[in-house]
Amino acid sequence: MGDSAPGVPGLDLAGDWVTRAASVAVLTGAGISAESGVPTFRGAGGLWRRFRPEDLATPEAFARDPRLVWEWYNWRRERMAEARPNAAHFALVNLEARIARFTLITQNVDGLHERAGSAKILKLHGDIWRLRCTSCGADWPDRRATLPKLPPHCACGGVVRPDVVWFGEPLPAGMIEEARHAVTNAELLLVIGTSALVEPAAGLIPLAKRSGAKVIEINTEDTPFSGLADFALRGPAGEVLPQLVERASR
Ligand code: OAD
Repeated sequence: MGDSAPGVPGLDLAGDWVTRAASVAVLTGAGISAESGVPTFRGAGGLWRRFRPEDLATPEAFARDPRLVWEWYNWRRERMAEARPNAAHFALVNLEARIARFTLITQNVDGLHERAGSAKILKLHGDIWRLRCTSCGADWPDRRATLPKLPPHCACGGVVRPDVVWFGEPLPAGMIEEARHAVTNAELLLVIGTSALVEPAAGLIPLAKRSGAKVIEINTEDTPFSGLADFALRGPAGEVLPQLVERASR
């Protein structure tokens, strides 16, 4: 074990693990985009007009008040449209280029991993830059920062929703199975910027551990899985992750 970077104990040993791993899975959450200016769901600055995501990101909330739910999505789209990928997103692009078997699993809908250049991404919770008709099921991309007329309507007359996964809805077909396959076969799982409170994504962490993977968590705070992680690296992802990947590149 080498020396640790000041302020981030364990970075050198974690870097050795990344260097040695032939297969790496990564699970990201809203915290990886915080330094890009995208608000997280929970924690400081995470709430919109005092609504919890569990109260807005549901099919019931949309059926009751589609305009309110769309106002929240417009607020989020505006911030995401202004955001640029940060050093953590780019560090994952570098890592992908160096690891033979690499799977990026994200709960984020902001598109910043693609914009950074990550090639293959399992988007567990969908994509805020796509829309879907609740009536005919058509879906299409829409990158406007805000949608002008709420709720939007489809050519067929149906109400249009964001093409994202809401609480109580199933994930896109086959996606959680693919994610489980990746973590089950990974030698190392990096868990970055997620509060790890939402299933089934959170369940990937104990699954990886049970399957023999080492788990490294990068987060500014403790999470329910910090104790299970082999390393909990404390700090902003945009600072810690590039240092980790840099150590693994030596
Ligand atoms: P959360 O908002 O629940 O958690 C964000 C996490 O990022 C917290 O643990 C913070 O401590 C951490 N964090 C904040 N800034 C950070 C930084 N600069 N570097 C590293 N970590 C940082 O977001 P998620 O875990 O992604 O789902 O939330 C999971 C799901 O709940 C979302 O995908 C969304 C939400 O409801 C749906 O809408 C279905």
